Amino acid sequence: MRVFKVEGKYPLNGTIEVSGAKNSVVALIPAAILAGDVVILENVPELSDVYALNTILKELNVQTTFENNTLTIDATNVNYTPLIEGAVQELRASYYLMGAMLARYNEAIIGMPGGCYLGPRPIDLHLKGFQALGAEVKIEHGAYRLHAQDGLKGAKINLDIPSVGATINIMLAAVHAEGTTVIENVAKEPEIVDIATMLNNMGARITGAGTDTIRVKGVSVDSMHGCRHQVIPDRIEAGTYMVAAAIGVGEGMEVKVDNIIPEHMEAFLAKMHDAGVNMEVGMDSVTIRPTQALKAVNVKTGVFPGFATDLQQPFTLLLTQATGASVITDTIYSARFKHVDELQRMGASIRNEASTGIVVGPSELEGAKVTATDLRAGAAMVLAGLIASGITEIHEIEHVERGYERIIQKLTNVGAKIWFEEI
Ligand code: EPZ
Repeated sequence: MRVFKVEGKYPLNGTIEVSGAKNSVVALIPAAILAGDVVILENVPELSDVYALNTILKELNVQTTFENNTLTIDATNVNYTPLIEGAVQELRASYYLMGAMLARYNEAIIGMPGGCYLGPRPIDLHLKGFQALGAEVKIEHGAYRLHAQDGLKGAKINLDIPSVGATINIMLAAVHAEGTTVIENVAKEPEIVDIATMLNNMGARITGAGTDTIRVKGVSVDSMHGCRHQVIPDRIEAGTYMVAAAIGVGEGMEVKVDNIIPEHMEAFLAKMHDAGVNMEVGMDSVTIRPTQALKAVNVKTGVFPGFATDLQQPFTLLLTQATGASVITDTIYSARFKHVDELQRMGASIRNEASTGIVVGPSELEGAKVTATDLRAGAAMVLAGLIASGITEIHEIEHVERGYERIIQKLTNVGAKIWFEEI
């Protein structure tokens, strides 16, 4: 079994380059099949989810080449195939194939999604949106079977909650629907704008991405064409490394987290500021220098532009080093606190009650054997290892590798002692 090992207390100094956004690219890749043409994606992170989606595209007779973070997707000869098991079950975001294939073929058969355990993760809003567009939804042999007998027709859809996945999936399905689709109470995350931007560059007619209401004017399949698109920087990876810098930067040193869009992380930056982090926000980077004493702050996650739930777990680690008591509430995923037990194992004074974490700091952390229970919890454990005394051994690191391209190299480049080991 492969584990990460981290030897703590090596001061961080230097620059960390942020990669392309995982939560964009897992939707951009399925979206590329909407044009029977070539789509070139730049700034694509080398992550297991990208390889899994490439495998799925190959099942649809779509040719892909992936080198130097550029993914070329040739969907000229794409054809319809049910996707019931195999790669489609390796990642939750494979559900974007539902919207893309419905749009293209008026039919999709997709195996149930997999993904991190963060508590119940239904897709009822996605399915309600597809039904509103005229698709019949059935569950057969553990797969969703979606079929629009008379093709998809534009509709007015109001989401009960501003779900990121449902917003993107319904937007994808609506691209070729007859007439106009209006989706209200949508999510406004930057990744949604990124996908709408690429789809419009392919010939779609989407307006309102990033606002509360998205409008999609249906266009014909053959009016779509390929394009070249640059994936936006990953705001969650960026925030994770900013936490690493805030707790690990060496005296007289500085860590620059480069290639970011600060506007995508204003709530997080505001909380980092409230916690007393000594940071300088530039046009496309944040530079962090030693902070005398971090201050306890209360945090409540929310949909964009609120504090991202994906940064709740890394930020909780930062609060174990802050003076005072902090209360962290996750309003998106009530069960996103599996990192609490792991941090307790390392000596943090932290507990979980319902959908809140309560932290009293600062606490000295000691290296221990810990588990990455999910992607962002695993990232928090890597960061904990950076500041703990002794060696931290992190198990189930495949979760972490799903969301952090070249994490060993990026942290080693700024002075951390972190490596893989087979045990
Ligand atoms: C996306 O997941 C991200 N994943 C998640 O990031 C992120 O935590 C989440 O958005 C919230 O920002 C990807 O983009 C691949 P949601 P998604 O639909 O789309 C409920 C990471 O760490 N809901 O906005 O699945 C749901 O249970 C991952 O990179 C329904 O009830 O999130 C949750 O409580 C983890 N019915 C809330 O909405 C539905 O049909 C938000 O979920 C859909 C969602």
